Amino acid sequence: MDEYAILVFRDQPFSDEEQLAFAQRLDGQLHSRTGSAVLGNSRLGHEALSDISNVDEQGEILKSADRRRMYGLGNRLWHTDASFQDPPGRYSMLSARIVPPVGADTEFADMRAAYDALPPEIKAQLEGLRVHHSIAYSRQTLGFEFSEEEQEKLKGAVHPLVRTIPRSHRRSLYVASHASRIIDWPVPEGRLLLRDLIEHATQPEFVYRHAWRVGDLVIWDNRATMHRARPFDDAKYPRELRRVTTLDIAEPAIVASGS
Ligand code: OGA
Ligand code: MN
Repeated sequence: MDEYAILVFRDQPFSDEEQLAFAQRLDGQLHSRTGSAVLGNSRLGHEALSDISNVDEQGEILKSADRRRMYGLGNRLWHTDASFQDPPGRYSMLSARIVPPVGADTEFADMRAAYDALPPEIKAQLEGLRVHHSIAYSRQTLGFEFSEEEQEKLKGAVHPLVRTIPRSHRRSLYVASHASRIIDWPVPEGRLLLRDLIEHATQPEFVYRHAWRVGDLVIWDNRATMHRARPFDDAKYPRELRRVTTLDIAEPAIVASGS
């Protein structure tokens, strides 16, 4: 994970319980407030298991104006999971259960490579900056509306714009569609810089596009990447994936075996 930030494992037929247990064994505590938990109507019955799908409890494809569908469309913006929380997400593990016969891919951008490629004067400018992240903000840019009660729960979180990944010590641009403003900067000026950085980081040389097969497990480091879902005919084809995300808190000690 420290070297590649995204790993793809084919032919891993996880059940929900196995996926939850695997994530905990690999990286410790699970995140239970990553996104759809906000709507509070998960059909899966486990708060740490995110339903990345376009179907309802009966397995029927969601109607185009269904609120759950519109909320899920937010995943088509470049983002990093749970950056609007503190702690945010560390590793996300996405398991493909049902995939359409047409492309319904996910793209990933390497934010370490994007940082490394910045000119020195931009790197200097970014030093010490902090960013407010809010899912209310990112969803609102798409016209999705939250009730006042929901907004109360969605105050957002502040994180450094440039993060250093422990162990690899690589620096990474920590931006996303959730990034709403740069602290202490005029809002428009901050948003323009954030847009520029996202545009820079999502150039083709930094992007991997994953074409899903049933049984794929993809693990990514949210500190070091952004990702987005690509559009497909979601009124026609069911697509069902399950995601578990770990909490970005102090990493569990690596236990040496046999000693
Ligand atoms: C996610 C996500 C994108 C997709 O699971 O966190 O953003 O392609 N998924 O479903
Ligand atoms: Mn996501």
